[in-house]
Amino acid sequence: MSPSTPEKVLLRQFRNLGDVRRTIYSLLPLRPARVVVEPGCGTGLLARELSALTGAELVCIDRARVPELPAGARFIAGDAQRTILRADIYISSFFLYQLPAPGAYLRRVRRALAPDGFYAVAGEFAYRRDDPLQSALADSLAREGFDPGFGDRLAETFGGAGFRTVEQGVVELEKEEPDRDFLTAQLGSEAPDSPGKLGVRVCWGVYRVV
Ligand SMILES: C[S@@+](CC[C@H](N)C(=O)[O-])C[C@H]1O[C@@H](n2cnc3c(N)ncnc32)[C@H](O)[C@@H]1O
Repeated sequence: MSPSTPEKVLLRQFRNLGDVRRTIYSLLPLRPARVVVEPGCGTGLLARELSALTGAELVCIDRARVPELPAGARFIAGDAQRTILRADIYISSFFLYQLPAPGAYLRRVRRALAPDGFYAVAGEFAYRRDDPLQSALADSLAREGFDPGFGDRLAETFGGAGFRTVEQGVVELEKEEPDRDFLTAQLGSEAPDSPGKLGVRVCWGVYRVV
């Protein structure tokens, strides 16, 4: 989703993916970790959840203003591609698809991670091209320079960057009426009056330094 995505859309998406995050957290050594980095932290929702699960230093990076971060989290404003930090765990949510070269970014993160470090993806979309509404949304995201099918390329991108897959999965978000403000922001005058329900696939994964 674009930088203009309404916060309520990100909140709905976050709520719908609670089970995915619980699985991810169960696979990560959150308690012993010393440094956890969340690039593209956006709303701060994931960071707030994480802060209750780890005693690690939590570093959140975003080029946009973040409404609310947990007490004690460190916020770095700016381009996450220019701030690669030493860490035990990186975790991101709907961030990598916005990078022009996620593979190159992940290679640099892998070198900064601890030898037994992890990168967890708490969600990346894989828009379907055989659905007209999803296809129109995918086109609008691609025009912004984002990769609307990135979710389908998680394993190959992480593999190419020197990670091995610990576990990954795909969930189909329950079909819901798309948010009107989001549709208008993405599709402008092309936004259909009766769009029908939207159920997008979300891919997730936990990857480990090889
Ligand atoms: C779709 S939002 C997702 C926000 C949040 N992670 C979530 O799941 O609700 C993508 C976020 O990544 C941030 N972002 C994208 N590219 C970035 C970059 N190169 N450096 C820092 N932040 C970036 C955007 O500002 C935005 O907050």
